[in-house]
Amino acid sequence: MGLKRLDKLIALNCNVSRKDARKLIKDAAVTVNSRTVLRAEELVDPEVDDITVKGYNFTAKEHIYIMLNKPKGVVSATRDPAKKTVVDIIPDELRRKSIFPAGRLDRDTTGLLIITDDGAFAHRIMSPAHHVFKTYEAVLSFPIDENDIEKLESGITLGDGTECLPAKVKSFTVDGLPAAEIRIREGKYHQVKRMFLALGNKVESLRRVQIGSLKLDPSLVEGECRELTENELELVFIDE
Ligand code: URA
Repeated sequence: MGLKRLDKLIALNCNVSRKDARKLIKDAAVTVNSRTVLRAEELVDPEVDDITVKGYNFTAKEHIYIMLNKPKGVVSATRDPAKKTVVDIIPDELRRKSIFPAGRLDRDTTGLLIITDDGAFAHRIMSPAHHVFKTYEAVLSFPIDENDIEKLESGITLGDGTECLPAKVKSFTVDGLPAAEIRIREGKYHQVKRMFLALGNKVESLRRVQIGSLKLDPSLVEGECRELTENELELVFIDE
């Protein structure tokens, strides 16, 4: 990559304006090889120098993978004219040009969402052919019974005739409320809600807790995110 001006590099990789990059540097939020650098024009080589922004290691890696604990009320999109998106809530130090959510969660669904700029990775997660199971915890209006589980596990037909692939289901309770853990490998529109609707039940709240074997980090409160480690990335494609 060679030598680059520090402000230009931060602006490009963190997807902030050159002015904001200079402010980060002026506010002593940037270090190069453990030394706080206050000059925006400092020349650095991201492949050689160890750069941090607000304590996060800055890398010139090809792609970024972010684990977000999605809060309610934000849409799983890159841009929206009226509503806040999951990309809007990614902090500057992790934001890059062309990041997008790898999959969709409804506006009122919370939990694990991966934000990336790697299109091939996102396709692998989302395509049913790749068998990546997504695990959800659904709080329900009514408890489910063995008969419901049998229907979901053998492939339920939705109200409009759409056939679902077999799911894996466990019944449990959340604070005394009826709930189910459901694992599916498709991502049809409102799929989990419609699967329970087909049983005459209703999803009161929905949270995604796992993708493949990657679990939502319990230390992330809703709205918080962090970069995935390389080991965690591999877990996405390992089935339990
Ligand atoms: N199924 C749903 O109904 N909603 C989601 O957000 C995800 C899966």
